[in-house]
Amino acid sequence: MIRIEQLTKIYPGRGADHLALDAVDLSIDKGEIFGIIGRSGAGKSTLIRCLNRLETPSSGRVLVDGQDLSTLSARELPRMRQRLGMIFQHFNLLHAKTVAQNVSFPLRLAGRHDRDAIDRRVDALLERVGLSAYRDSYPARLSGGQKQRVGIARALANAPSVLLSDEATSALDPQTTLSILQLLQDINRELGLTIVLITHEMSVIRNLCDRVAVLDHGRVVETGRVADIFLHPQHAVTRSLLAESGTPDEGALIQLRQRATGPLLRLTFVGDTTYQPLLSRATEETGLRFNILQGSVGRIKETPYGQLLVEAVGAHVEIGPALAFFTRWNVHHEVVA
Ligand SMILES: Nc1ncnc2c1ncn2[C@@H]1O[C@H](COP(=O)(O)OP(=O)(O)OP(=O)(O)O)[C@@H](O)[C@H]1O
Ligand SMILES: [Mg+2]
Repeated sequence: MIRIEQLTKIYPGRGADHLALDAVDLSIDKGEIFGIIGRSGAGKSTLIRCLNRLETPSSGRVLVDGQDLSTLSARELPRMRQRLGMIFQHFNLLHAKTVAQNVSFPLRLAGRHDRDAIDRRVDALLERVGLSAYRDSYPARLSGGQKQRVGIARALANAPSVLLSDEATSALDPQTTLSILQLLQDINRELGLTIVLITHEMSVIRNLCDRVAVLDHGRVVETGRVADIFLHPQHAVTRSLLAESGTPDEGALIQLRQRATGPLLRLTFVGDTTYQPLLSRATEETGLRFNILQGSVGRIKETPYGQLLVEAVGAHVEIGPALAFFTRWNVHHEVVA
């Protein structure tokens, strides 16, 4: 469990200082995959770097399993860092060292000297990430995906309880990205590892994360379960990030509204209700018919969802009974003005 309390980071500038993090409060539960999104410069990397003290906060606290990082002595800090593995966009491998040497590096740094034990650990890690055959290769001979697998094995070497990932798939093609995400998800499940990941790819959040925080100008503007945030984004930044990633946007709505004659409803089905023929039932019960104008159906992590923009049509449209129907069936509904 990670608690972030009133975390503030000010970078001194030549003219004015730069407020990169502004009183951030967050808590990240053990075993969850927590996503952080936001525009470039929002403070995402600064936040994640404050979690393992690559960056020193200007004020506020970070508690990992109840331990306040700022109270740790210079001798205690490395031990705490071992509990927080990190993977990077550009892998940060040591090019003059083999795959096995890269993976064993943090073990040696942690003061382990038993060569046999180190070898066994490295072999197990390489097997886990599917790179046993590349033990003695140098990074220059590996593909981007393979390099990131080395990065993951290295991050896991000291059996951390948290894995921090800063744009770990941004340099990879879509197919390789998927395989790395699958590996992260498997590791999360097998080891109960907490993962904090930064990404600008909404699909990564949608497929992998349990909860998400949206950062803007150093502030958390929105946080919650991914399905809630993605289906009902409240903040303008969240909306525009989702719109750019192809989620039905507000712009198209203006045109749809001009052509529609009946009231417009946005209906959101999540989980069990997605398996029910609820639009037809609503018609049977209320006599209203529904014209689907826009919509998306899919999954957010494992949760099926559907979000439809419908126009209610009929001779004398009275939507009260339809709203009552949807309330009864637990379908989130919103009359679009
Ligand atoms: N070492 C530094 N010194 C001064 N300013 C910095 C430093 N690191 C980051 N900043 C500034 O702090 C702000 C937040 O930077 P940060 O790298 O955390 O953003 P980010 O959300 O990770 O962006 P990106 O998506 O581009 O990686 C930016 O305005 C950046 O210019
Ligand atoms: Mg960054």
